[in-house]
Amino acid sequence: MRCIEIAQAGGPEVLRLVERPDPVPGPGEVLIDVVAAGVNRPDVLQRLGAYPPPPGASDIPGLEVAGRVAQTGPGVTTVRAGDEVCALLSGGGYASRCVAPVPQCLPVPAGLDVAAAAALPETFFTVWTNVFERGGLAAGESALFHGGTSGIGTTAIQLAVARGARVFATAGSDEKCRACEALGAAHAINYRTTDFVEAIQTLTEGRGVDVILDIMGGSYVPRNLAALAVDGRLVQIGLMEGAGKATVDLWRILGRRLTLTGSTLRARSVEEKGRIAEALRREAWPLLAAGRVKPLVAAAFPLAEAAAAHRLMESSAHIGKILLVT
Ligand SMILES: NC(=O)c1ccc[n+]([C@@H]2O[C@H](COP(=O)([O-])OP(=O)(O)OC[C@H]3O[C@@H](n4cnc5c(N)ncnc54)[C@H](OP(=O)(O)O)[C@@H]3O)[C@@H](O)[C@H]2O)c1
Repeated sequence: MRCIEIAQAGGPEVLRLVERPDPVPGPGEVLIDVVAAGVNRPDVLQRLGAYPPPPGASDIPGLEVAGRVAQTGPGVTTVRAGDEVCALLSGGGYASRCVAPVPQCLPVPAGLDVAAAAALPETFFTVWTNVFERGGLAAGESALFHGGTSGIGTTAIQLAVARGARVFATAGSDEKCRACEALGAAHAINYRTTDFVEAIQTLTEGRGVDVILDIMGGSYVPRNLAALAVDGRLVQIGLMEGAGKATVDLWRILGRRLTLTGSTLRARSVEEKGRIAEALRREAWPLLAAGRVKPLVAAAFPLAEAAAAHRLMESSAHIGKILLVT
């Protein structure tokens, strides 16, 4: 197979196309002929040496793919060769072939082309488990999503709106703010020109929002807590500001009964990811099939041009997901 290796920690130029033997599906796994792989910010961190693959995971980057099942491993009965699937991986997606545990595979939603389905797993699993499970966002509640035009943000806005929430987002330009609103956000805030805490207080008449999904950390933490309603939930999924530490006013947490939580997806067990997959199949796949939620693909690059895909991601000029096609 062809795949992209990280030659050493460094800039996008360390991504190089090589040939390796095909991976072999073990018990409960399938071998997939990859049509496209999704590019995610954690891949950039992995390339920089800041997010090593968990024990047992492939050293090849790539957390999600879509394609056709080429071969099934021992004991697999629910998926057959030729089936079109998308899959969440703990690595190995930047390749013409990869293996995936069956519980982490979902069918390509009706009406969607196979390549576009590669944009689904990482953000749908992450948003589901963090916004709706940990954050408990319910119909009629309100949410704020930072990085509204990120892969994560575009998925969170659409799923939350489709499930009856009132959604606000932040983004780094007016053009990006309009894109968030086109996806269903009630209002998007340009964080470069407007203080999001003040904006949220104005937009919610001083109440605050019920759930915030944050990718920044650091100085955003106390500001997020200040933008939450009573009984609000702050869910931390990224630390793009760099700091793993923050100073918070614990009186605010006590007085307003706030919850601060967070999680990472990659290190969770196959069983746990399979449980999230079943919830997505039940709750989100019908929305995709009905066209009420769509993957927003900003750009697609040939696999060999993975470095260009990473440059685009690091520029933050994209709106939505970036794909690598085989
Ligand atoms: N915990 C998990 O399980 C998990 C899983 C997947 C992803 N993540 C995290 O989720 C985040 C988004 O991932 P993604 O793949 O969707 O990335 P992405 O598409 O590259 O989006 C990142 C966005 O962050 C915004 N941004 C960059 N610098 C910023 C800054 N200084 N202030 C505010 N916004 C800034 C950029 O938009 P602007 O132009 O608007 O700034 C950019 O579009 C990353 O932190 C990633 O590590 C976590």
